[in-house]
Amino acid sequence: MFSNPLALFIAVFHWILAVLSPNDTQLSQNIRNLTWGNLNFVHTTDTHGWLSGHANQPQYHADWADFITFTTNLKAIAHANGQDLLLIDTGDKHDGNGLSDATEPNGNKLLPIFAEQDYDLLTIGNHELYVWENSKLEYEFIVSRYQEKYISTNVEILVDGEYVPMGRKYRYFTTPINGYRILALGFLFDFMKANKGTRVTPIGDILHTKWFRDMLDDFPEEKVDYVVVIGHIPITHAWEELQQLHQFLRGLYPNTVIQYFGGHSHIRDFVVNDVNSTGLESGRFCETVGWVSIGEGEGLERFLRSYIDFNRESFDHHTRAVGPGSELGLSGPGSGADGPTGQARRVKSMIHSARSELQLDKVLGQVSTNYYVDYVPLEHSHNLFRMLTDKVLPTLTGNQTCGERIVLINTGSVRYDLYKGPYTVDSRYIISPFENDWVKIRMPKSVGVRVSAILNRGSYINLLPRHQQFMVQRQLEQLPQEDLALDPLDRLDSLLKQYPLVVALASQAKLSKGYRTHDDFGDTGDDTVHKPVVNFPIPNVVQSVQFSSNEDDDIDFVFYNFLTWNVLEALKELTGRDYLEEIYFYSDMYLGSWLTEYIEGGNLN
Ligand SMILES: *[C@@H]1O[C@H](CO)[C@@H](O)[C@H](O)[C@H]1NC(C)=O
Ligand SMILES: *[C@@H]1O[C@H](CO)[C@@H](O)[C@H](O)[C@H]1NC(C)=O
Ligand SMILES: *[C@@H]1O[C@H](CO)[C@@H](O)[C@H](O)[C@H]1NC(C)=O
Ligand SMILES: *[C@@H]1O[C@H](CO)[C@@H](O)[C@H](O)[C@H]1NC(C)=O
Ligand SMILES: [Zn+2]
Ligand SMILES: [Zn+2]
Repeated sequence: MFSNPLALFIAVFHWILAVLSPNDTQLSQNIRNLTWGNLNFVHTTDTHGWLSGHANQPQYHADWADFITFTTNLKAIAHANGQDLLLIDTGDKHDGNGLSDATEPNGNKLLPIFAEQDYDLLTIGNHELYVWENSKLEYEFIVSRYQEKYISTNVEILVDGEYVPMGRKYRYFTTPINGYRILALGFLFDFMKANKGTRVTPIGDILHTKWFRDMLDDFPEEKVDYVVVIGHIPITHAWEELQQLHQFLRGLYPNTVIQYFGGHSHIRDFVVNDVNSTGLESGRFCETVGWVSIGEGEGLERFLRSYIDFNRESFDHHTRAVGPGSELGLSGPGSGADGPTGQARRVKSMIHSARSELQLDKVLGQVSTNYYVDYVPLEHSHNLFRMLTDKVLPTLTGNQTCGERIVLINTGSVRYDLYKGPYTVDSRYIISPFENDWVKIRMPKSVGVRVSAILNRGSYINLLPRHQQFMVQRQLEQLPQEDLALDPLDRLDSLLKQYPLVVALASQAKLSKGYRTHDDFGDTGDDTVHKPVVNFPIPNVVQSVQFSSNEDDDIDFVFYNFLTWNVLEALKELTGRDYLEEIYFYSDMYLGSWLTEYIEGGNLN
């Protein structure tokens, strides 16, 4: 069952940790206070429709109304202390949750809820650009709601036959309290799959355009106190576009603080670009509220960052405890300058009516234990892919030619963990909503068994879940150079050594499991001290092998039509043959439907 001793060790370890679960009182004692500066930022990104909170995960239980109450209170505290606080979002509001995806067009009910938050700066994500209807809604509803606060320096949309900026190309403004002069830019990474009604100009090209240089000339260093770049771009050092942008901006603003906010890779991260520039990325799916404060003084000491868990205990803690020297903490949960506001009540009721209208909470079945995408190794019985390949994929029926088959899925076809508790209509959208057809190719068994090894090479990394593509890469960046040459298993071993698992056990029995983020400032950024979850490397593809003999007979090789190009490439490499003409339809009942049916049958009770 466990292919290496390490996996066994980790499995036992996780079991011990799971037995020792904390209660809420214990949790709140483990929250680190925020550190405030004269300029503070609150950041969300990649919310992907999760505005009603995580029903089966108390740790991320707060909803959008709670978040609005939280930021309203934070702002009141900041202003009372003579400090500024700016709210930022960096895109990807769609695709991930029933609240966004159960409507046509997708986002119809979600965006009015999202727009209740009073952001100071927003920009666009790639998920606002796949489908024209989404881009149109973004332009007509979100851009008109936020006006000059919506910034996109490199994305345009066709309006009456003419490309116009998606929002404004930049924003120059002064903060309300300290009067800081801020120049804000907004960028999307070099996204190639935007719908035809929209246009993305790569950052590298923007840097050479006349309007961009002229615009920056209008705001020379002496007119700018802070440059703020909000991007739907991973902030990791490995992302060349951002490095290029930073070098360019640093050339024009040699002494100005340049603060970046990123997204898209779905991880918590913080980078130091130079002594006057840092970048923050605030995770995914309303699991995290990101925080950056910039204080007085020189150098890196004035930057502080925090990753706030998206729950009311954290929110209340941070608006109660304002830190040493301050008298302005707000007392009691949900209180604050404006009390539990009418707005918060209204937003709760918007969420509630949208959910009931869409029947998102309708219970389809029960799940008795958690199944994780990558918090346990693939071999572990709580690994979601192991459960799918061992239990669900064998139940697949379709246009079968022969008794034996391999059913292959890419791990990116699953979006989120499956948590213990009721499995609802919403869960169906959350876990695996992708409505692809299955197709099959008949081939010798000896060929079929070799396909996955090819698709699991690094060059097919885009078949992984988003955060995996980047998290593993970011962890590799932090490895000593000599380790990079190791083979994958040794590298995993080396990665794991970075996590203080063993040392942590005794002292952390009371902590909840969650992120322990390793970033350029170390590992104290998470507001809540967690027992660290480890994102284990998982393969690009996994498969269910259903053979009844050892003979090299022909088998049905079954996969999502989305993977056709990849499978054909692999087969060409293995056999020199083009199998294009030999692809046949298999089934239109997609993975999420099989999973739902399996759970409805009471198989995971
Ligand atoms: C939670 O744990 C604390 C500290 O161990 C204890 O004092 C408290 O009674 C517990 N609360 C509940 C609800 O079990
Ligand atoms: C950082 O910014 C300060 C002004 O706040 C400036 O004096 C200093 O030269 C800058 N340092 C570098 C290395 O750019
Ligand atoms: C957090 O701030 C509060 C209020 O100032 C203080 O009482 C508490 O000791 C602080 N906690 C930590 C861990 O510093
Ligand atoms: C089922 O597969 C066979 C080849 O094995 C193919 O001839 C047939 O058209 C397929 N059926 C459907 C409904 O696509
Ligand atoms: Zn995203
Ligand atoms: Zn994205």
